[in-house]
Amino acid sequence: MSPAPKPAVRPANPCFSSGPCAKRPGWSVAALEPALVGRSHRSKPGKARLAEVIDRSRAILGIPAAYRIAIVPASDTGAVEMALWSLLGARGVDMFTWESFGAGWLTDIAKQLKLEDLRTFEAPYGELPDLAAYDGARDAVFTWNGTTSGVRVPDGNWIPADRKGLTICDATSAVFAMDLPWDKLDVVTWSWQKAMGGEAAHGMLVLSPRAVERLESYTPPWPLPKIFRMISGGKLIEGLFRGETINTPSMLCVEDALDGLAWADSIGGLKTLIARADANLAAIARWVARSGWAAFLAADPAIRSSTSVCLKIADPWFDRLDDKAKAAVPKAIAQRLEDEGVAYDIDAYRDAPPGLRIWAGSTVETADLEALFPWLDWAYAAVKDAASAKV
Ligand SMILES: Cc1ncc(COP(=O)(O)O)c(C=O)c1O
Repeated sequence: MSPAPKPAVRPANPCFSSGPCAKRPGWSVAALEPALVGRSHRSKPGKARLAEVIDRSRAILGIPAAYRIAIVPASDTGAVEMALWSLLGARGVDMFTWESFGAGWLTDIAKQLKLEDLRTFEAPYGELPDLAAYDGARDAVFTWNGTTSGVRVPDGNWIPADRKGLTICDATSAVFAMDLPWDKLDVVTWSWQKAMGGEAAHGMLVLSPRAVERLESYTPPWPLPKIFRMISGGKLIEGLFRGETINTPSMLCVEDALDGLAWADSIGGLKTLIARADANLAAIARWVARSGWAAFLAADPAIRSSTSVCLKIADPWFDRLDDKAKAAVPKAIAQRLEDEGVAYDIDAYRDAPPGLRIWAGSTVETADLEALFPWLDWAYAAVKDAASAKV
């Protein structure tokens, strides 16, 4: 059989990685020119830049005035672990996990912090655990969007408004692309390199007044390294929530974070960001429906991610392959598309079932996805032909 011809059009931007994600449309390194390089982050202009990241994030996301926002070390992982180590242990914990990152937080809680009063609610890739099982007397830990399975929490209705426990939410692949119910969330974290396409560096940590109350009234039984400490003399270190970071941030990355936030403002803020991701998911859904070989890992549209879109292969030919051969198919598709300069980094996460993962967050242009679809069909046909020819 002669190979199918290559599609005529390539995406203008082939960056579909789920982190670091595509830069915002029109980005170039010129955006970093105003960066305060070579200056102290504790200088007046340095602190002002850091405070601007906090203030702009609050304004765009509609974070309540009473919530504190800090820029903290070690990206999203740093922000989540800072929260887990600082807050947990006061109450029992309900842990909800449905993919690799949630599994990582469960390891922290069960094996590192060794919390005994722990209930775990797990679901396989593509599904959500029973969120309604959450007991508001306890703390809850969960990701809003499971980046490696493409499954998101649909809403905050399962979280009681009068809860006594704290809800700790890793929202790194959700924020700026999905609506978050701030009144239901006591701790929210994210990193700069996801939906806004910033450079990876420090992380963001948001605390509700009740989370601050816990910090000021509860001392965990384990040691806290300096980079986790938010309390001094029993009181919150308020400066941390004005941009006085614990350790040194990259001012180049700070500038890039500001560039992304300014872009978000310029296109209409959160509503537009969410609409862009939703339109991208809708475009992917239309293509999946006509592809004849791709399917969403999340079968239920209500829990389908609009950022980290995870796809599996639904083809009787594929189903008959053994596990090793199955894993090789998406790898080969991703490699062909990378070689063609059409799509970078779209093989599924290493712990996820074999498939493709396409970032569709706010910085991705729908036109680039539309240009990608014929290439996906082309690569799948080519990989299937090559594999079939070998047998
Ligand atoms: C849900 C989730 N949590 C945590 C992380 C780790 O983030 P970081 O590398 O910013 O620490 C990621 C990264 O992809 C993620 O998607």
